[in-house]
Amino acid sequence: MKDVGIDAVEIETGKLRLDLAETFAPAKGEAPEKYTKGLGLYASSFPDVYEDIVTMGANAAKRLMERRGLTPADIGRIDVATESAFDNSKPVSTYIAGCLEQTFEGDFHHANKGERKFACVAGTQAIDDAYNWIRAGRNRGRSALVVATDTALYARGDPGEATQGAGAVAMLVSEDPDLVELSTEQGYGSADETDFLKPNQQFPSVDGKRSVQVYLARMREALVDYESVAGDVHPDDFVYAPFHTPFPGMVRKAALLAYRHVTRDTEVEEELAAEIGRQPRPEAFDDEEQYFDAVAEYTDALKETDRYADWYDRVIDPTLDISRHVGNWYTGSVHVARAAALKRAHEEGRDVTGETLLVASYGSGAQAEIHAERVQHDWEAEIESMGENVDAQLEDRYELSYEEYETVHDAHNHDKETDFEEFTAPEGEFTFDGWGRMGERKYSYVE
Ligand code: HMG
Repeated sequence: MKDVGIDAVEIETGKLRLDLAETFAPAKGEAPEKYTKGLGLYASSFPDVYEDIVTMGANAAKRLMERRGLTPADIGRIDVATESAFDNSKPVSTYIAGCLEQTFEGDFHHANKGERKFACVAGTQAIDDAYNWIRAGRNRGRSALVVATDTALYARGDPGEATQGAGAVAMLVSEDPDLVELSTEQGYGSADETDFLKPNQQFPSVDGKRSVQVYLARMREALVDYESVAGDVHPDDFVYAPFHTPFPGMVRKAALLAYRHVTRDTEVEEELAAEIGRQPRPEAFDDEEQYFDAVAEYTDALKETDRYADWYDRVIDPTLDISRHVGNWYTGSVHVARAAALKRAHEEGRDVTGETLLVASYGSGAQAEIHAERVQHDWEAEIESMGENVDAQLEDRYELSYEEYETVHDAHNHDKETDFEEFTAPEGEFTFDGWGRMGERKYSYVE
């Protein structure tokens, strides 16, 4: 059977930065710690006036293709995952292909193009589609370009406003990949939920508190389903566990519950028993409420143990290195988490070749998916230049005042007819430059 997985990755962040503690918190009359400690977020990325899901996706894809010396002939499909699309018919992948054709020799007429939708889990679903296409032997030696791109904006005043972000992740899915090979085994947790949706509207309708509960419930189902096919998971089986990261505080909650789940009936539970007791079992309680209280008490105690804190610092914290500075990128978020973890491994000089990642994706509405990935021999060469590039992009972002943030939010609001000045000057990138005769968006490459 062919090894198939992610061969290359590039990240493009929106070029504007909003500091949550210094700028957003005072304007909202909130304590800065609500963002830095509670949500675990320091800043959000926003697109400048000439940036959008197409430019960010195309810029990431161009860099990836150039770095890997690819031409359009090497790419057999372009799949875009987004929940920020502006057209119900023409997919964003056609716009991205159109951009790339402005700068590469040849064209993508031979490439199958589409758009994947299931909230944030769509990025992982698009990778799945590419994986299946290659495994089925339909790729004729070509790779798939998967682009997860979003402008995750909420209505002003919505509690989700603090978790906004904008950026794209371009990934090359190939046979014999350089970065990670994907497991055949997958687990799903999927249910018809009404917690976060955009019924033909730009900004989401969100039941924030409920969305957190739905995230945890579907992740749990996916983990149980994954174990049913791959066998029991042990926390020391994997080097990192990248989760979908709407904000790092969400991952903190999910990781703790996952750790409790996977350590039940293991030597870890036994070793911790002297310190915090064994995990409560339902049969020991007369009613459900008492049982749930006992579980909550055990979970609080587990969080405070050195064993858990050490595991969290090693396996989870590195996955949040980028997201805490950019916010939620919806479809790209779990792929940013993977990239961040491998970037940390490179920076710390750790050789993670052959190690396993447990990747947990999630989309509202709602569906979680869990699979494993094995880190490949050439991971470090692949991650090194991506990492340097991300650091430079994050560093170079324009720092917004609160008033400027409001302007940017308005500039990207589809219901507002506005003509705003840009904050940064484009250089060596694709830009949005207005509408065509049929209402299509037009793009050009600026040298
Ligand atoms: P909120 O109600 O403004 O915040 O919104 P809060 O009052 O719950 O506070 C947040 C945390 O900060 C809490 O921590 C507070 O205790 C803490 P927790 O108790 O939960 O651990 N806090 C402080 N900590 C230290 N010092 C302080 C302080 N003050 C408060 N002074 C909410 C939070 C998540 C609801 C909001 O941001 C929201 O609606 N976000 C959008 C929805 C979302 O991100 N949901 C996540 C799960 S769903 C998902 O991931 C899918 C999604 O990506 C979309 C898709 O799939 O397409 C969103």
